[in-house]
Amino acid sequence: MSIHRQLAAGLGRARDRTLSLVNFDDDELRRQYHPLMSPLVWDLAHIGQQEELWLLRGGNTDTPGLLDPSVEGLYDAFVHSRASRAELPLLTPAQAHGYLKTVRDKVFDVLDRLPDGEPGFEYALVISHENQHDETMLQALNLRAGAPILGRGAALPPGRPGVAGTSVEIPGGPFVLGVDAATEPHSLDNERPAHVVEVPGFRIGRVPVTNAEWREFVDDGGYREPRWWSARGWAHRTEAGLSAPQFWNETEGTRTRFGHVEPLPDDEPVQHVTYFEAQAYAAWAGARLPTEVEWEKACAWDPRTETRRRYPWGAAAPDATRANLGGEALRPAPVGAYPDGASAYGVEQLLGDVWEWTSSPLRPWPGFTPMIYERYSQPFFDGDYRVLRGGSWAVSADILRPSFRNWDHPIRRQIFAGVRLAWDL
Ligand SMILES: [Fe+2]
Repeated sequence: MSIHRQLAAGLGRARDRTLSLVNFDDDELRRQYHPLMSPLVWDLAHIGQQEELWLLRGGNTDTPGLLDPSVEGLYDAFVHSRASRAELPLLTPAQAHGYLKTVRDKVFDVLDRLPDGEPGFEYALVISHENQHDETMLQALNLRAGAPILGRGAALPPGRPGVAGTSVEIPGGPFVLGVDAATEPHSLDNERPAHVVEVPGFRIGRVPVTNAEWREFVDDGGYREPRWWSARGWAHRTEAGLSAPQFWNETEGTRTRFGHVEPLPDDEPVQHVTYFEAQAYAAWAGARLPTEVEWEKACAWDPRTETRRRYPWGAAAPDATRANLGGEALRPAPVGAYPDGASAYGVEQLLGDVWEWTSSPLRPWPGFTPMIYERYSQPFFDGDYRVLRGGSWAVSADILRPSFRNWDHPIRRQIFAGVRLAWDL
C-alpha cells in the first residue's frame, strides 16, 4: 500500500474511533466529568483545530483559518486549563462535528496531491494527536459518575498461570536507544536520535504487576508504612488519602470500570496507580522501577543480531495475537495472554495493556531537535514529569513504537498506568 493510502487509512481509523467516543447527546458531550478532564466536545473540536493547523496551515496560526481567531483560541491547550474548559463559549457539538468534517475533506484533497515518496510526517503527527486524544476521552469517560454509557469491552485472550511475579535477566552491554527518521519516519522528536548507550545488567518483570499482587501490598499495610514511600510520595499519599488504586472498592473486593462494578480480576495488570504508589510498591517488593533506558532495551534489542527490532516480537505489525491495543477491550489483558508478543529476551506485554511507570524524568536524548510541533516535547523537559512506556490498551497500534515516550506528573492516576518491576543484578 502506498504511503498516502496508509496515511489516509490511519486518519480514517482515528476518526472512526473518535466518533465512537462522542456518540452521545449534547448534554453528555458538554458535561465535565472531572476537573482533570475536558468536556468531550472540547476534545472533539480541538482534534479538528490541530488537524487544520498542521495539515492545512503549515503550523502557522497567523494564516487565516476556518474558525474565527477568538473561537480558535478556545482550543489552545496551553492557554485554557482542562478545569476551565466547560465554562468557555465552545462550539456546539453539531458545529464541532461540521468543523471536523470540513477540515477532513480538505485534508484528503491535499493528501491526494502530495508528491509520491513524501514521508508525510505531519500526517502521522496528526494521526498520533487524534489517537492520543481518544485515549484522553476514555480517561474522561472512566471518571464519569452514574450508570454506564459504554459496554464492558471486547473479548481478550486468557492469561497463563505461573507467569505473574517471574522475571527475566537482561545481561549488561551496549544497545541502540531511540530511533531515526530513516528507520521510523513517523517517530516523534523526543524518540530521536538513535544513539548507543551502555546498560549494566538488570532483571525485569516478565509481565506487569497484577491486581492480586497489589492486594498483598494493601493487605500488608503498604499504604500505612512510610518506610516504603519516598518523602514526596508519603506526603502525597497522606494529603490525597490514598489507600488503594483508584477505582478499587476495597471492602467489596470490586472495582468500578466505565461505571460497571465488577469483581477485581486477580491476574489483570493493576492500573490507576500514581508514580509514587508504583515506587512504594516496588520498594515493598524488594525491587525498583526500571529506567526508561532499561525498559527500551528489554523491549526492542535483539542480542543475537545486535540490532533493534521494530516491535518486541519482530517486524510484523501488531495484531490481536501479540498485544492488546486499540481501545476496544476497555481493560488490560490478563498476564501471560500474549506469549507470541514476547521480546527477544522473553519479556511479555511490553506494548499495550498498561502504560508502565519508569523512574526516569523526561529529558531530551543527546542531539534532540524539535519537530514542526515545537511545543510537543520541549516545554516538558525541565518539568516534574516521569516517563511512562509501552502504551496501554487504549493506545492505537497505528501510533505505538518501542521508542514511544509518554510522561505525566507523578501524582496522576486517571491514566491507564501500571507497574513493571526491575532489580539490580
Ligand atoms: Fe492536543
